[in-house]
Amino acid sequence: MSKSEGSPIIRTRLCGTSDILDGQLRVTDVGHNAVAVYRHDGEYYAVEGTCPHRGLRLEGSIVEQGTVICPSHFWRFDAASGQNVWPKTSQCLRRYSLIAEGDSLFLQLDRDGKPV
Ligand code: FES
Repeated sequence: MSKSEGSPIIRTRLCGTSDILDGQLRVTDVGHNAVAVYRHDGEYYAVEGTCPHRGLRLEGSIVEQGTVICPSHFWRFDAASGQNVWPKTSQCLRRYSLIAEGDSLFLQLDRDGKPV
């Protein structure tokens, strides 16, 4: 496999920056992948849109005190890193590359259209 295979070459607009308010999380489908977008301390983040606990979508999650809180069983993940905070497990939210440009947020995709 060459080094360039799998590297991000595409980007897609997810939403406008004004669509994402502090404390709120929005889940969008990109192809077959759910992607969650939120703002924390003025920065925008994109992570996988399903919870690693039981694979349920993160819709209805809140971002509070530096954590993303899944509404299903209240697992908490660090808002900046996606690392699990509570309960302590090795399962975390996978982060994706998000670019804020002008009034828009763009997600980087690999050659297969998967978020990277
Ligand atoms: S599915 Fe998210 S905490 Fe259980």
